[in-house]
Amino acid sequence: MAERKRLICAASEVAEQGKGVRFELERFGKQQPAFVVRFDGQPRAFLNQCGHVPVELDWQAGEFFDDSRHYLICATHGALYHPATGACVGGRCAGRGLIRVPVVERDGHVYLIETPSN
Ligand code: FES
Repeated sequence: MAERKRLICAASEVAEQGKGVRFELERFGKQQPAFVVRFDGQPRAFLNQCGHVPVELDWQAGEFFDDSRHYLICATHGALYHPATGACVGGRCAGRGLIRVPVVERDGHVYLIETPSN
């Protein structure tokens, strides 16, 4: 089956450990908020949903990194996630990581890879 891709943004909009780009995707028949950031040169995308309480991570739209720029942080109670994997690395996420979303960078753009479950 051919891979289906949907444009999220220009690759230049997601700078290394900089501001993220928010987007929506359909998952299990519902629109859900998600975001993409760049870490270690690669675009990394996750559902915008904390592992503690299912709220969006960013109070200020697109601000997902903590002050160190090494971790993603939930603005509500400060849970920390690893930006490469979404794994919980501290705080109230208590082992519950972020849900990854498959994305790919091609020809200067970042695309969502659409699968039957997202
Ligand atoms: S809602 Fe994210 S840490 Fe509590």
